[in-house]
Amino acid sequence: MSTPDATQPAPSTGPRGSATATAEPDVLLDVRGLKVHFPIKKGVIVDRTVGHVYAVDGVDLQIRRGETYGLVGESGCGKSTLGRAILRLEELTEGSVLFEGTDLASLKGEELRRQRRHMQMVFQDPLGSLDPRQTVEQLLLEGMRAHGLTKDGDARERLGQLLQEVGLPRTALSKYPHEFSGGQRQRVGIARALSVNPSLIVADEPVSALDVSVQAQVINLLADLQEELGLTYLIIAHDLAVVRHISDRVGVMYLGALVEEADADDLYQEPLHPYTRALLSAVPVPDPTVEDTREQILLVGDLPSPANPPAGCRFHTRCPWRQETRCDTERPQLRTVEINGVPASHRVACHWAEQIASGELRRHAVKPQDVTDPTLTEHDVDTALGAKGTAFPGVVDGA
Ligand SMILES: Nc1ncnc2c1ncn2[C@@H]1O[C@H](COP(=O)(O)OP(=O)(O)OP(=O)(O)O)[C@@H](O)[C@H]1O
Ligand code: SF4
Ligand SMILES: [Mg+2]
Repeated sequence: MSTPDATQPAPSTGPRGSATATAEPDVLLDVRGLKVHFPIKKGVIVDRTVGHVYAVDGVDLQIRRGETYGLVGESGCGKSTLGRAILRLEELTEGSVLFEGTDLASLKGEELRRQRRHMQMVFQDPLGSLDPRQTVEQLLLEGMRAHGLTKDGDARERLGQLLQEVGLPRTALSKYPHEFSGGQRQRVGIARALSVNPSLIVADEPVSALDVSVQAQVINLLADLQEELGLTYLIIAHDLAVVRHISDRVGVMYLGALVEEADADDLYQEPLHPYTRALLSAVPVPDPTVEDTREQILLVGDLPSPANPPAGCRFHTRCPWRQETRCDTERPQLRTVEINGVPASHRVACHWAEQIASGELRRHAVKPQDVTDPTLTEHDVDTALGAKGTAFPGVVDGA
């Protein structure tokens, strides 16, 4: 498929469907050159493809066994699509997803279904993801039956164990989803994911629909379960505080690609990408002295549409460090940097990360740019994108 930018990095692996690459021993999930492009269709009688939404556009991501990887980014940057594509709930346009060395893109039908047992999803809205006509018992047994896990006749014992693991009473089994509070429903959602003994859980905004007081309980539950069961997590969240608290490593996404990735503490202590710096600068600090003096970076200009991403660095239309050369012509790749004290595990997709960190390059004013695509009407894009907002708590879009 054609891409909007001839300077994009080439996918790191061969053509889709090749199952030849091998993952490192402690890597459970190895994503290479992943792209998910949604066609934008137009036409009354015959549907024509008039463009694409480049929801995920070249992501390399490795998740190690037993770790928690936090994924953050503005609304619409492609986090959920990436999570769904990893579980093959979304068709891949390009790239590979190796799970324990098996390329999921090469699996179909029964093989894919069997593989799915090892990878489960926890959703933001448990009520929307749980069938309201089924009791908790039916909900939990459904997945277990589908994967032949109820054959030994010890299903009742397993159900009891699952409820205990997520902190619900046994009486919950005969209840329906609407009879629970939000936090309890999320516990049911987690129990359902656990019912088939997965190794990887992709949790898409697992606490953002919950009251703040309940959020911590669910986060702690996820952490306890990880320790007990040796689970690996990909946690998607827009709340930087949630991600920091729970993650070993954090990836920051912008318009379909990762712009920075590091151990959680490294990322929060020394963000290197201008976008990450802007995100973190908007998070209030409890210490009033630090709060009064900390750097604040207000992002200017609209978030470009994923149907028309800017050429070169995707962030160049809003970047306060943008340079005359390279920024708008050459797409930066995620790379290690040569900065004192910054470990190789800290990678950033910015041509000028070293010069920005040293202070050699200074911040400048940003002139808002028109980021609409002249070949697509607003209606074409809205129809393809649905009615999604782009707000990201903590980021101020100045005028
Ligand atoms: N099935 C689809 N068809 C067309 N466009 C889609 C489809 N699914 C997602 N998109 C678009 O792809 C882009 C990425 O969407 P996605 O839901 O992955 O973003 P997100 O980062 O999870 O956002 P949020 O934080 O709001 O959940 C958005 O512009 C969205 O409108
Ligand atoms: S490559 Fe250029 S535009 Fe992109 S983040 Fe770095 S300085 Fe900004
Ligand atoms: Mg989402």
